[in-house]
Amino acid sequence: LDDQSYTYHGDDAGLAAWVAMFTSRSGDGGGDHEQAFLSALEFAAACKADGAFLDVGSGVGRIVGKVRSYARHVTGLEPDERRHAACQAGYANDPGVEILNTTTDRYRKACPRRRFDLITVSMVIQHVSAATCEQILRDVRHLLAPNGVAVISTTHFFEERFTYEADLSPHDFGEFNRYAEDTSVHDRGLPVRMFSKDALHREVEKAGLEAVVWEQFSYVRPENVGRIAALYNVAEDQVRDCALSQYVVARGPSRRSGALRRLADRFLIRGRAAGA
Ligand SMILES: C[S@@+](CC[C@H](N)C(=O)[O-])C[C@H]1O[C@@H](n2cnc3c(N)ncnc32)[C@H](O)[C@@H]1O
Repeated sequence: LDDQSYTYHGDDAGLAAWVAMFTSRSGDGGGDHEQAFLSALEFAAACKADGAFLDVGSGVGRIVGKVRSYARHVTGLEPDERRHAACQAGYANDPGVEILNTTTDRYRKACPRRRFDLITVSMVIQHVSAATCEQILRDVRHLLAPNGVAVISTTHFFEERFTYEADLSPHDFGEFNRYAEDTSVHDRGLPVRMFSKDALHREVEKAGLEAVVWEQFSYVRPENVGRIAALYNVAEDQVRDCALSQYVVARGPSRRSGALRRLADRFLIRGRAAGA
């Protein structure tokens, strides 16, 4: 399953300074800017306790660590070789966790029958091309067990825009996709697609998933509103009340809707045959 074709150029140390500019608004006192998302994640994991979990784009294992205690087994997929090695080393002594150096489409081809009760995709789809984003979400739908759920988190903005870490102004869609597809040189930092609420819902629905819960999280700390607004070249009001991340809890087609569709297909085929 080894995939040598993708390199992640993000800087985890640099990320700490960025996230320090954000906060939750949940009033939990913890100050974790991702609190709303992490709570939803934990809730979903508890509801799927003892199930098979899949984490797409595991990085160094942050999300695997958050859900591990609830799962019977966790599979993590990470295409970047170094991050995969780091993540795998962290779970080397846990027989209930496997971390694979691959992407969802290669995984599906290698293990066509595997299905998961909970699938997490945390902060992955904004750093890939539009085609890869579509592929990942389609794969998520196929990999969900009946009644399984996916928790997908990503960026959030009042409008959809295609940016780079080094330049957060809006850029051309085609240019962004070409940059995201070729990870050999990322001289503008990571590609960062800012999803609006509508854009995320559109992608989720296009993949055949149904969004059941949506929330924005990670608000700009009041003292940083001016700085963040300047970085995105927007009015302060556009970032003051608009969190810069969002998550959706989604489910695949239910058993019932699948059965109904198969039944409808059968009658349609018979009807067509009779009419022919
Ligand atoms: C910002 S990191 C997020 C890591 C982790 N999910 C978290 O929330 O801490 C994005 C990760 O997605 C991985 N990634 C990029 N393209 C991917 C793909 N097509 N399939 C799966 N993972 C991918 C990157 O290598 C990187 O480790």
